[in-house]
Order: sequence, then structure tokens, then C-alpha cells
Amino acid sequence: MILVKLGGSVITDKARPLTPRRASIRALASALAGLREPVIAVHGGGSFGHYWSVRHDMHTRADEYDARGVATVKDSMARLGAIVTGALLRAGASPYPLAPSSIMRRTRADTAAIRDMARVAEAGWMPVTYGDALWAGGRRSFILSGDRIMSMVALAVRPRLCVFALNADGVYSDPSSREVVPEMRAGQGVSTGDAGMDVTGGMARKLAESARIARAGIDVFVVNGNRPGRITAAVAGKGHQGTLIRGRRVGGRAARSS
Ligand code: IPE
Repeated sequence: MILVKLGGSVITDKARPLTPRRASIRALASALAGLREPVIAVHGGGSFGHYWSVRHDMHTRADEYDARGVATVKDSMARLGAIVTGALLRAGASPYPLAPSSIMRRTRADTAAIRDMARVAEAGWMPVTYGDALWAGGRRSFILSGDRIMSMVALAVRPRLCVFALNADGVYSDPSSREVVPEMRAGQGVSTGDAGMDVTGGMARKLAESARIARAGIDVFVVNGNRPGRITAAVAGKGHQGTLIRGRRVGGRAARSS
């Protein structure tokens, strides 16, 4: 099982509100459609969800945000989701879109639903879900990032590999030199650069969630999503161009993964 996050900075133009990057989506879709093992895909919000979240001052902390803001974020993410699943379908995959609300119980992961999502993948479909605005109870709501979904799904189903496809060549040892760290361990100190205007915390959040996954013993590959062939090569075990964060093995034994 491969769990892949399609970063919002790859599938949308972050400088232009509500603008998909269709060629990038197409290229990623055909790379994912060509993988020879079960895949679960998660995508980010980029200039769709983040744009409206910022406009309505909505954050990852549950609070009483503007009801219209929640509705608008949801609408924009459903539209972006449809673009992604449409591309996957045309690329020959059998996407199985799942609203993020169907794998959450308010602010918590619904582990049983997530395990079923893995069974759907094993049966031949490609479950696709995404970061979104979700109801938290009462009048409260929150922004659930795709990165958070990645760690929830990874911990529940233990994929063989988690891939974060970003608009960068990997994790940089120093953002000014743009030197990619080829391999690192969970928790190893790196500079995360500027998070930019991003309600879910940008690169720092991605590394925090990656570290959480790696600490559970699962390998994480951070790759440039504009070069989908690097995903194909890494999944096929043909070397990795990007950053491999090795899952830490607890007590010297390999944690089991599928
Ligand atoms: C987007 O999820 C959540 C919303 C703002 C709706 P992410 O935070 O994972 O998105 P990207 O990949 O960083 O754009």
C-alpha cells in the first residue's frame, strides 16, 4: 500500500486564487495510475481551500467560524477534488472519492472507516480524499489539513511508503542553498524555510506530520510533485531523488507494514 499526498502547491497555482494546474494534475494522475500496488491519495487545498480559509479567518483549531466560510471552503475543495478524480479516471485509474467527513468523527479520525478505505484500495479502487473544513460539534468547525489526514491514515493502515509530493525537490538542509537532504531520520533537525501564507502551517506542518509517521516505523518520501517519474522510481525501488525519511524501527525490530 502506498499513501500519497498531492500538495496544493503542485496541483494549484498558489499565486492565483482558484486556479488548478491541470498539466501537473494530469502528469501526477498518470504516475499514480501506473503504480502496481494499492494506492490511497490525499490532496491539499492550495489556492482553492487555503484561499477561502484565509479570507474567512478559519484555522485548524476548532472555533465558531463563519458558516458561509465553511460552506465556501467545502464547495471549493469538492470542485478541486472533482478535477483530481476526473484526471485519475482519464489516466486509467479507478478513483473512489471519499469526503473527508466520512473518515472523521468530528475532530477525531474514524479508524474503522479509514481501515475500510484501505480495503477499498486493496480491492482495486483508488480512494481519494482531501483537506477540508469540517464540523466539530455545535457551531464549531475547523480546517483539517491533508497532511494531518496523511498521518491519521498512515498510523491506522501502515502503508509500505508515504509520499509527500511538493513543489520543492525534497527537504532542504538550508533553504538558501537549496541542497536536498537525501536521507534523514525522524526528528532530525532541518530548516523548514518560510511557511508562507498558509492556514495549516506550510512546510513545518508537513515535516511534523512526516516525523510522526516515520516515528511509527513507516518510511516517508518527500519528492518534487512536478517530477512524477521520481514517485514511480521510488515506489519501484529504483533509487530516490528527493528526501527519504526512514521510519524508525522500535526496539531494533521492523514495525509491520503492508
Ligand atoms: C488544505 O489542506 C486544507 C484547506 C485549507 C481546506 P493542506 O493544508 O494539506 O493543503 P496544501 O497541500 O498545504 O495546499
